[in-house]
Amino acid sequence: MKQLTGNELRKLFLDFFASKDHLIQSSHSLIPENDPTLLLIGAGMAPFKPFFTGKMKPPHPRISTSQKCVRTGDIENVGRTARHHTFFEMLGNFSFGDYFKKEAITWAWEFLTEQLELPKDKLWITIHTGDDEAFDIWHNDIKIPANRIIRMEENFWEIGPGPCGPCSEIHIDLGEERGCGKPDCAVGCNCDRYLEIWNLVFTQFDRDEAGNYTPLAKKNIDTGAGLERIASVLQNKRSNFETDLLYPIIEYAAKVAGVTYGKSPKTDVSLKVIADHGRSMTVMIGDGILPSNEGRGYVLRRILRRAVRHGRLMGIEKPFLTSIVDVVTDIFAEVYPDINDKKAYIKKVIQLEEERFNTTLAQGIELLNKEVQELSQAGQTVLDGTTAFKLYDTFGFPWELTEEILSEHNMTLDKQGFDQAMTEQRERARAARQDNEEKVVIPDLSHLVTENLRHDPKAEAANIVLLLKEGKIVEEAFDGDDIAVILDVTPFHAEGGGQVGDTGVISSSLGKIKISNTKKLPDGTIYHVGQITEGSFKTGEAVRVNADVIRRRHIARNHTATHLLHAALKQVLGDHVNQAGSSVDDNRLRFDFTHFAQVTPEQLAKAEEIVNDVVLNNFTVGIIETTQDIAKGMGAMALFGEKYGDIVRVVVIDGFSKELCGGTHVDVTAEIGLFKIVSEAGIGSGVRRIEAVTGYGAHEYLKIQNELIKEAAVALKTRPEEIVSRIDVLNGRVRELEKEVSTLSTKLAKNEVQDLLTSVKDINGVQVVLGQVAAADMENLRATGDMVRDRLQSGVVVLSAVCGDKVNFVAMATADCIKKGIHAGNIIKEAAKAAGGGGGGRPDMAQAGGKQPEKIGEALQAAEQMIKSQIK
Ligand code: ALA
Repeated sequence: MKQLTGNELRKLFLDFFASKDHLIQSSHSLIPENDPTLLLIGAGMAPFKPFFTGKMKPPHPRISTSQKCVRTGDIENVGRTARHHTFFEMLGNFSFGDYFKKEAITWAWEFLTEQLELPKDKLWITIHTGDDEAFDIWHNDIKIPANRIIRMEENFWEIGPGPCGPCSEIHIDLGEERGCGKPDCAVGCNCDRYLEIWNLVFTQFDRDEAGNYTPLAKKNIDTGAGLERIASVLQNKRSNFETDLLYPIIEYAAKVAGVTYGKSPKTDVSLKVIADHGRSMTVMIGDGILPSNEGRGYVLRRILRRAVRHGRLMGIEKPFLTSIVDVVTDIFAEVYPDINDKKAYIKKVIQLEEERFNTTLAQGIELLNKEVQELSQAGQTVLDGTTAFKLYDTFGFPWELTEEILSEHNMTLDKQGFDQAMTEQRERARAARQDNEEKVVIPDLSHLVTENLRHDPKAEAANIVLLLKEGKIVEEAFDGDDIAVILDVTPFHAEGGGQVGDTGVISSSLGKIKISNTKKLPDGTIYHVGQITEGSFKTGEAVRVNADVIRRRHIARNHTATHLLHAALKQVLGDHVNQAGSSVDDNRLRFDFTHFAQVTPEQLAKAEEIVNDVVLNNFTVGIIETTQDIAKGMGAMALFGEKYGDIVRVVVIDGFSKELCGGTHVDVTAEIGLFKIVSEAGIGSGVRRIEAVTGYGAHEYLKIQNELIKEAAVALKTRPEEIVSRIDVLNGRVRELEKEVSTLSTKLAKNEVQDLLTSVKDINGVQVVLGQVAAADMENLRATGDMVRDRLQSGVVVLSAVCGDKVNFVAMATADCIKKGIHAGNIIKEAAKAAGGGGGGRPDMAQAGGKQPEKIGEALQAAEQMIKSQIK
């Protein structure tokens, strides 16, 4: 058996399939492109679905990759077995309607036994129950004894809707000592003895959303071999975690926690979780995912929080995850150099999220402690599932942590209730996801000869190559039909890179199509979306094409200004500023960027000034088409997750900005006219958004602002330039009037006090004042009450006042009356109750509110009754 590092193994695999005429591609991003059915790439085949179904032509009929994958279905098992991961790399070779079972099986066997020199007698094969063809190849050609080829019903592979088919797996027997020892332990057992190292899928069906399996016209091959698993075999390790692809992280985490790997099963689990999750979070953020409460961002957040929690379980109290990133980037430096380039950014995102979780962790523990206290007071020992789920959902507490803390108090968790709450939440999430999913219908375009389709900004005449109605190809379409059109040549610019698609008109002597958007298929084919407003159109027909060039000019101004803003923000805020999203249309531009603090008004003004400076200096905007490498060498800014072909387009603004971009731009910056920022705000952890306008949009914006100022001046009865001093004068006047009101209120209250004192009642020798006054709020009412009580020297005061649609009450009693049995709190309770409210207080002073001001009379009577009963 060969001894290989992870990097050597990956390379050997790709070299081997290159020698079998496969095109080698670098790993695609974890974020699926044009595939709303998938959250994250979880298999090597996932980026190639349209090639398998024949909807699009692959660049080569055979491709091989080592693909970054994230799967979280088994996250609870990570760290508990030798082979479960959230992040892993899948080695794969793919045939799109080219070779089939025979070659796939033969090459897998050749690679494993000749290149890696794995012992043949330790390899076991599984096949789908009815797959006699696969059996014959394994048995007759490869010479595997029949008793080592096992037929299994579950050997059928699929991932959501899309290409799928029966599969054949290769397992290696790692020896009895690695097994569970059960008498029925065999291939397929859940223990660590038989390790599945390669899956060969004979992709021959396309599954739709409803679960129907349609046979594909051409048969394909999709294979997947876990890099970490094979490395563990070659490196003779007991688990994937001990290979050079993960072990350095374990070693480092053990050092931080002050523990030793291999000493305790509990800390080993935590170390493995941190190693696995550390790789996931680094690669996910590197691919442009940010923590959030939904979708991919939620997956990332959950992974990151589990890692923090496992750190805590080993006693790590301080933030520690950012330093894990250093170890991960070292492991991946050779294969994913871009992760290394983005290291500072990745660490910043992790730091913020870890800090944030540490705060909620403390809050969650507080809540749990309270629950524990309440349970023990009530003599109970089981925490309900809903509370445990709230801890999980709101504070990111995995249920095991809740269970652990409970067990310290001899309590348990209602796991069934928790599972139920979790299932309900999943159902809700699934329903929400389905509501939001845009159903992208990629029509079957396998017959389309795309080589001859062109984009030419100057084109005026074209021929209709294809008409689509409701996702189906039609020969002819009519007045009123919503259609998509593919032309042999088009001047329309397609939506992409944040820029909206062109609108315009396609016409002939017999009809007119109003184009509302222009889009691109994943292979770059441009199609136009619109409605036939007049007449009809046929495939092959000659048409005139007119894109709305004035609108495109507005778009171009906003797009070039977006590049200028990006460069200006880097200058003002720092190099960490990266585009996190952008949206450019004819009215405005929106630019999202990474920045981890507030942007001050001065910084914003500075960025705006820099952009306007470049505009006024009238720099030339150049477009250069060149190779990726040269573009990189020029220092052109590329964006997260965007994929560019070999030849890329660089937009260069005279030594000020260079960006890879396929969009439309002005020729010289002065065309932008004026650049004006209209808003800036934070939109998520570490991401901010600026909206701005240019050209006519800026003019329109300023016109509106100017109108507002004029209207304000009219309302203030002054001239625009005197608005501020006028407001100062008015504010001064308001303050004076407030003072006057306050003096008058006090005077009024004094008069009221006088009146009240003339109505003192004697109830069994106690002086009682009951009455309604005009106090504006509770504070004023209390002040009046205080005055009456002080003047009485000995007695009980109950006052009420209407306040909006409510009523306030106060009751007060002097010390000698309290001795006689008076209790202000109980008096107020009765009064408030009579007026539809509640309240209470101390024997000497109490206040309350009611909702029925019309019941004041009854309330005061109730108070009087209470007083009488207290001094009987
Ligand atoms: N797509 C197959 C898998 O993921 C090879 O196992």
